[in-house]
Amino acid sequence: MKYSNYSTIIIGSGIAGLYAALKIEQQAELPDGILLITKSNLGESNSNYAQGGMVGVMKENKNDSTSSHISDTIKAGAGLSEFNTVKFISENSDRVIKDLLNFGVEFDRDENGALTYTLEAAHSVKRVLHSGGDATGRMVEQALCAKVRENENIDIYEQTVAVDLLVNSKSECKGVLVFNNITKEYETIYASVVILATGGIGQLYKYTTNPVGATGDGLALAYNAGAVMQDMEFVQFHPTALAIDGDENRFLISEAVRGEGAKLVDADGVEFMHKYDERLELAPRDIVTRANYNEMKKNHTDCVYLNATCIDTDKIKKRFPNISKKCLENGIDMAHDFIPVAPAAHYFMGGVKTNIEGKTSIDGLYAIGEVASTGLHGGNRLASNSLLECVVCAFEVADYLKSKKLDSPKQIDTEIKTTIEQYSEPLESDEIDVVPLKRELQNIMWEHVGILRDEASLLKGIEKLDKLAASFPRKKCCLSRAEYEFRNMLTVAKLIAISALQRKESRGAHYRTDYLQTDEASSHSHISKKEGEICFAK
Ligand code: FAD
Ligand code: SIN
Repeated sequence: MKYSNYSTIIIGSGIAGLYAALKIEQQAELPDGILLITKSNLGESNSNYAQGGMVGVMKENKNDSTSSHISDTIKAGAGLSEFNTVKFISENSDRVIKDLLNFGVEFDRDENGALTYTLEAAHSVKRVLHSGGDATGRMVEQALCAKVRENENIDIYEQTVAVDLLVNSKSECKGVLVFNNITKEYETIYASVVILATGGIGQLYKYTTNPVGATGDGLALAYNAGAVMQDMEFVQFHPTALAIDGDENRFLISEAVRGEGAKLVDADGVEFMHKYDERLELAPRDIVTRANYNEMKKNHTDCVYLNATCIDTDKIKKRFPNISKKCLENGIDMAHDFIPVAPAAHYFMGGVKTNIEGKTSIDGLYAIGEVASTGLHGGNRLASNSLLECVVCAFEVADYLKSKKLDSPKQIDTEIKTTIEQYSEPLESDEIDVVPLKRELQNIMWEHVGILRDEASLLKGIEKLDKLAASFPRKKCCLSRAEYEFRNMLTVAKLIAISALQRKESRGAHYRTDYLQTDEASSHSHISKKEGEICFAK
């Protein structure tokens, strides 16, 4: 096995990981350098697919204020967002977005060069910055990737999967064990700081807007290392993913299309959102998702429709070039036809419990972006707050680290040596085809731990997940990226299901048909692994 040493390792090359790498490199003393690892190619991530935009409460936007953004975020969060976190992120958005502009990130501007803002659900004013019309994530990601690639102080490992965190008995993280998916070799990398920026979990569900890499790896790694996890039952389902037969990884039809006036209709073209919420199509995401789901169940259909024919054709071309192109590829002309849409798993509000600087309950281990649970989103994320959280928390972790001594660890503890040894012995076995196993897990989660939940169904789901886990022989060491991902999916699926079973109320995206009321006394849920057992905390 190869061994190396770094001051800081960042796992993940979405917007959180890339921006953290650039900021840490600018600010911190790094005697042993900085390493960014990513399991596919640099830039492949959920971030790359973000459409609607990034919230920017900009000083020059006189229609907006941090108090308005804070209030909208907290309302959408269904009573679970933390005021201080929301305030901090909102108040820092202007500073961080201006810093992003200095890194070459472009947001769309009007003919006078002023930033343009769009509206999304549950925002009371237009405050969502966008880029390339509906390609915000790709534009930001590409700008940051270019800066990371040209930075000689940032080493990059692509096609490299983080498979275990090296944590000692004092709960200190000293590095990470990685697996190269091309050479199939392991490497032990010691570092005094390890930052998880591994993104979300959409691939745990049959229908999702997330790309194939969103398998919850960072969550499983952190949980197995003993980190405290927060609000694991809160999965956000987006109401309008393009519903094309047989297409389970679904292309997103951005909420910004509704922000520009599109209406949800049934197969006969009849609008229905007035039956569910007075804010109609711009009600919080969980409400619109349940409305669509309910209409589909009631009418025994696989989709509802989005009627965007009211949007001016020129505006469609300018604001939604990629969405209209994707629709056209499927024979749908947005200017004249209804778009078939259905809910799909989209975002994970739960995660590794952190503060605003990304600190987890394990010394030396940080988490930022979608893998983290800072308390911003509460029970239901407000649209376009995720990218904002990614950049503010990346900025803050770098700011925090600038006062720290970042030598790589010199003393290696026995427990860590034992972990490394478990990966040193080659496995005498053939690689497992996990495709059918993954499909089964996705079906279980969609059916039993999905948009609507109840005790009987959750218990059934847990039973089926346990059976599936028992059929998968790998417990630690695997033979491929796909096997590692499936191992992690099993862990995270179980954590989501048992957390959903524990929360006996409906709140935000967690909707229990057997406990319809919100329990005002309940708060965040926490779960961690103690002596190999799942442990809940009040
Ligand atoms: P990601 O961008 O998901 O990056 C994770 C990285 O970690 C990837 O590079 C991955 O390869 C790597 N990785 C994972 N596991 C491992 C491992 N074991 N080893 C090594 N590397 C690993 N949010 C908004 O705010 N506005 C939007 O408009 C918006 N639109 C969206 C549209 C779509 C279709 C989707 C899917 C999401 C959207 N979101 C949006 C959500 C937002 O894009 C994500 O929450 C955000 O980009 C997450 O960024 P991240 O850096 O935390 O993780
Ligand atoms: C969208 O464009 O609808 C997605 C926005 C988000 O997830 O924040």
